[in-house]
Amino acid sequence: MGLIFAIESSCDETSASICKNGKILSNYIANQTIHEKYGGVVPELASRAHLQNIVPVIDAALKTTGCALKTVNAFAFTQSPGLIGSLLVGAQFAKSLSLAFDKPLIAVHHMHAHVLANLIEEPAPTFPFLCLTVSGGHTQIVLARAELDFTVIGETIDDAAGEAFDKCGKLFGLPYPAGPSIDNHALMGNPHAFKFTEPKVPNLDFSFSGLKTSVLYFLRDKIKDDLEFIEKHLNDLCASVQYTIINILLKNLKKAVKQTGIKQVCLAGGVSANSGLRKALQETGNKEGWQIFIPSIEYCTDNAAMIAITGYYKFLAGEFADLSVSPSARAGW
Ligand code: KG4
Ligand code: ZN
Repeated sequence: MGLIFAIESSCDETSASICKNGKILSNYIANQTIHEKYGGVVPELASRAHLQNIVPVIDAALKTTGCALKTVNAFAFTQSPGLIGSLLVGAQFAKSLSLAFDKPLIAVHHMHAHVLANLIEEPAPTFPFLCLTVSGGHTQIVLARAELDFTVIGETIDDAAGEAFDKCGKLFGLPYPAGPSIDNHALMGNPHAFKFTEPKVPNLDFSFSGLKTSVLYFLRDKIKDDLEFIEKHLNDLCASVQYTIINILLKNLKKAVKQTGIKQVCLAGGVSANSGLRKALQETGNKEGWQIFIPSIEYCTDNAAMIAITGYYKFLAGEFADLSVSPSARAGW
């Protein structure tokens, strides 16, 4: 019997989830709106908000399932990467529960969990599969051979795809995080209205910092002649930036499928909530003969269900952590 209780607190979402033998029973997420007015996540405010949210979130996750903490078989938590103050809240809580109930502790890597979010729902991919993981801090193509056997075969050399959305959105005057607003405006715009440079990066790696600079210089020139250029063209600007980001992502994904011969392709991470990306990946899949897997939105953005499912596979493999384990802001895997 594997009843796993999981906590996610790596950035600005506090989440708790319960998973029974690989099936998610509950997934509670508290978002932090306090950061909006600062144009980005303020680490100190994030850890304070986690402290306020964690008990109600854990309570809610338990109440909906009727499970008691004493029946839990293991406590999983996000150990890395993330904001250290945020990670510490979830880690300390999980450790305390593990100690109090004398049950094993499981340390989970956040990026590993984003990929395994694809195993939560049916139909799920079989191994091996490729996963494009696109979040606010990472952009990776992962080759998954088994639940606990992954290789990162491509990743960003500078900004992440989510950062590209957020930074371009900031230039357009959109609130943080700008990804969802760009997505909404793009639905009403022309993706071919403006052309932005695409990077030339070797292998399967990505680069997004040049896009942000190219948008900055483009706007600077246009605003010289027309101060209201952004307001007048917001939908087209969002559609064109989104189109460029999607193009960069899909180009490398096509190369990865060609190199590996693996045609099961999954999507993961906060940016996979983007409607344009979901549609473009599905269309590319239909055209190229790939099988596409895209998690529901609640499992794309940060959530504890993905920590619970990863915790479950680590539980089956007996991969437990010692109570001396520390969270880490930047741990590779
Ligand atoms: O995975 P995630 O929730 O947190 C991290 O681990 O970083 O990803 C957050 C990122 C942010 O950059 C946000 O702008 C982006 O996901 N995002 C989106 C959309 N929803 C969230 N980007 C584009 N379109 C969306 N609909
Ligand atoms: Zn994430």
